[in-house]
Amino acid sequence: MINQNINIGLLGFGTVGGGVAAVLAKNAAAINARAGCNLRIKAALVRDPAKIRGAAGTPLTTEAADILRDDDVHIVAELMGGVEPARTYVLEALRRKKSVVTANKDLLALHAEEIFRVAGENGQDVYFEGAVAGGIPIIAAIRASLTANDISSVMGIINGTTNYILTAMTEQGREFAAVLREAQELGYAESDPTADVAGLDAARKLAILATLAFHTQVSLTDVYVEGITDITASDISYARELGCVIKLLAIARKTEEGVEARVHPALLPERHPLATVRDVFNAVYVVGDALGESMFYGRGAGALPTASAVLSDIIQVARNRNTGGQGRLGLDADRRLPIKPARDYRSSYYIRLKVKDEPRVFASLASFFAEADISFASIIQKPRQGGNAEIVLMTHPCRESQLEQALTSMRAYSKLDKIYNKIRVLHD
Ligand code: NAP
Ligand code: HSE
Repeated sequence: MINQNINIGLLGFGTVGGGVAAVLAKNAAAINARAGCNLRIKAALVRDPAKIRGAAGTPLTTEAADILRDDDVHIVAELMGGVEPARTYVLEALRRKKSVVTANKDLLALHAEEIFRVAGENGQDVYFEGAVAGGIPIIAAIRASLTANDISSVMGIINGTTNYILTAMTEQGREFAAVLREAQELGYAESDPTADVAGLDAARKLAILATLAFHTQVSLTDVYVEGITDITASDISYARELGCVIKLLAIARKTEEGVEARVHPALLPERHPLATVRDVFNAVYVVGDALGESMFYGRGAGALPTASAVLSDIIQVARNRNTGGQGRLGLDADRRLPIKPARDYRSSYYIRLKVKDEPRVFASLASFFAEADISFASIIQKPRQGGNAEIVLMTHPCRESQLEQALTSMRAYSKLDKIYNKIRVLHD
């Protein structure tokens, strides 16, 4: 017989907040049994109370104080997004002795250290499973289950919107803009989808993952970021010709030269396990010295998958309250590892360009790469159009600084019409 009530205040009642209310209503008996108490949403903060919402029956307010200053709210779930006022509200909740659950990577990628310091000072929990890879329990895995490992790399597809877009462009030949609209309607995209397509959303998540995995502060500015806005149907079609697909990858590695953290599109061989991750699904590879390789796979965005993560956190906080175990799990980022400069990353490259279709042009291109000590893995030339030839070069692995040297020579070359795109290639 459960007779203790634990009240939740939701800051935000949109896609994820609505999902939390729906899953809590549907699975109430099981959730309360697992939590050891009756979990109840006492109120939800919104901007516009007149908006039509799927989940009815939850009291709405436009005043954050109604939640933050209510002594009868025990757990605050921040599901509004953005940095401010979310940061101010989260800090106030912690100072008022309320534990916090958040799905907000924008906030954590910038202010995790401050939030965990204030949580520690006030003996409160901060849980954030929904902030990275939607419903996949990757945060719990890294923070708890893999904690005995020395983790050397975390890599994967951690933005559902861009994976959805690239999948539809690849498999259905659809246009970028139409698929993005669809992803927005399905609740996958951020309120400003630029963050998704420009790679920023994945970069924020990668900063969080790298911080947890390597126990060192990796901030958003430490992550090299390129999005998918320059990927065209032609690149996708050439990639297919080369036996590859294009995915937006997030890669964090601990190397002897420092932590490498980068988000960019990449060509992957069709047989690569990440190449088969389609639609809104995410996948994260983690390599630890004891476990070896492991892979986590699931839905990376959407109301119910994210609610699954948020509610699991809420249940965990409730359990901690019931056992007096709050505030024990900090950010645990006590090392100060250097960040490896982007110019030292090593990759193979796909480069698509247009040149004059004349004698010695190929020889000149080859010389630019040879001077930068880069060797070609393959070259495709398409039939000439109006005196120009479209060429796709694939290089063997080289440093970014070497590639930049070759591209600088190419840009100054009078027979070059255009460099359409350069995309990194991942072999393993
Ligand atoms: P959303 O649909 O835009 O909902 C945001 C909610 O917060 C809305 O209810 C909005 O009120 C409210 N809100 C925003 N700013 C406010 C303010 N200044 N004052 C009062 N209320 C405010 O966003 P979402 O997709 O649910 O995302 C919420 C968070 O979860 C974000 O941090 C996002 O990055 C993260 N997340 C989302 C997903 C996903 O698949 N959508 C997955 C994982 C993580 P109104 O309803 O009145 O506009
Ligand atoms: N916009 C994000 C995505 C939501 O598409 O992955 C989940 O964090």
